[in-house]
Amino acid sequence: MATTFPPGFRWGVATSAYQFEGDNTAADWWLWEQQGRIRDGSRSGRACDWWRAAERDFDLMAGLDLNAVRLSVEWSRLEPSPGRWDDTAIARYLVMLRSLRDRGLEPMVTLNHFTLPQWVAARGGWAWRGIVGAFAAYAARVVAAAGDLVDRWVTLNEPMGYLLSAYLLGQFPPGRRNPGAFVRALRHSLQAHAAAYRAVHAARPAAQVGLAAYLRPVDPTRPRGVEAALAARLDYVLNWLYLDAVRHPRPGGPGRAWPPREAGHLDFLGVNYYTRTLLRLDVRRPQTLFLRAAPPPGAEVADRGFAEVYPDGLLAVLRRARGYAVPLYVTENGLPDAADRLRPRFIVEHLRRVAQAVADGCPVRGYYHWSIVDNFEWNDGWSLRFGLYALDERTQARTARPSAALYAAIARANALP
Ligand code: FCB
Repeated sequence: MATTFPPGFRWGVATSAYQFEGDNTAADWWLWEQQGRIRDGSRSGRACDWWRAAERDFDLMAGLDLNAVRLSVEWSRLEPSPGRWDDTAIARYLVMLRSLRDRGLEPMVTLNHFTLPQWVAARGGWAWRGIVGAFAAYAARVVAAAGDLVDRWVTLNEPMGYLLSAYLLGQFPPGRRNPGAFVRALRHSLQAHAAAYRAVHAARPAAQVGLAAYLRPVDPTRPRGVEAALAARLDYVLNWLYLDAVRHPRPGGPGRAWPPREAGHLDFLGVNYYTRTLLRLDVRRPQTLFLRAAPPPGAEVADRGFAEVYPDGLLAVLRRARGYAVPLYVTENGLPDAADRLRPRFIVEHLRRVAQAVADGCPVRGYYHWSIVDNFEWNDGWSLRFGLYALDERTQARTARPSAALYAAIARANALP
């Protein structure tokens, strides 16, 4: 029997501005690349050439019979220096959004997907108090221009993981390892989310405003003992702390640190799901609290050891996210798999868990695969290939992987084969 999805289910792909547009020279990540931080030494360059020709990939999406797409707008393009708004950049985004609508692709727009304007970064990025007002002003500008073309807005992409990487682990720009900066950045991020939420609603009361969170089960190898206790704490910090603060600060919980007026700012939750984290004790690793994350023996692992393929984890996080009592979207899911060895089954198995979640009563309204074509994968550069279509970034030629036709068939049928 076919597994079907609810009527009106959104079938899409997820993308982000910096990874697709190319030549985002006013963003902090552009400088990060110049500093030689990309592992394979590559550069985003023209990326997938969206600034000139995103319509090429919009055609591919329409050709797959998708009805939705998640994309982001680049703050550093729209406001390249403080208070100076670039009208040609705004015009280009409007053209892109209209051409999506013309193709029957409903856009979900993310306001911040990891990158900051260099002028914001120079003031301290998320650790700068002024970012809250600056981000709200930017959100207001974008919505004033594009509000009639967009019904669903994501304020921030994966804020917890991003802030940890940028301010505590030193892995994303600005490359800091500073607990004080991290805590300030976390507070400003929560305040900025709430301020942007209010700014969007002030202009467009009927708009839906949410967040995209990276959620993964954090599982211990043994169900009891110190490993399990540490895993439970890590699970809370990585997955739920930020969302609890946004959605319902709990008495005595971390939400108390932020005024209650910051609560309740969530109309839907985007779930970015890739894998789980399986923890085992390792006495040789004091620097990571004696923990090591490693897939179990025999697990299927995507290219370059990126992650264990673990579809059950998607069902687990959707069930837990149901507690927030808002509509859910799988706003990212995918894997680096240049040979398309694992992807076809990956797609089917993850969608099976989505269907199971819906059957269990989770209000999942859509699925956005990461991604339509290979793209610039942050610190991994071009070495991880996430596309339904392979991209030759030098010639910009696209070649369908077998998964593209499979995903199209599922979207068309609104059901699994
Ligand atoms: C997610 C990011 C996205 C992309 C995928 C592979 O965590 O949100 O930009 O890099 O991973």
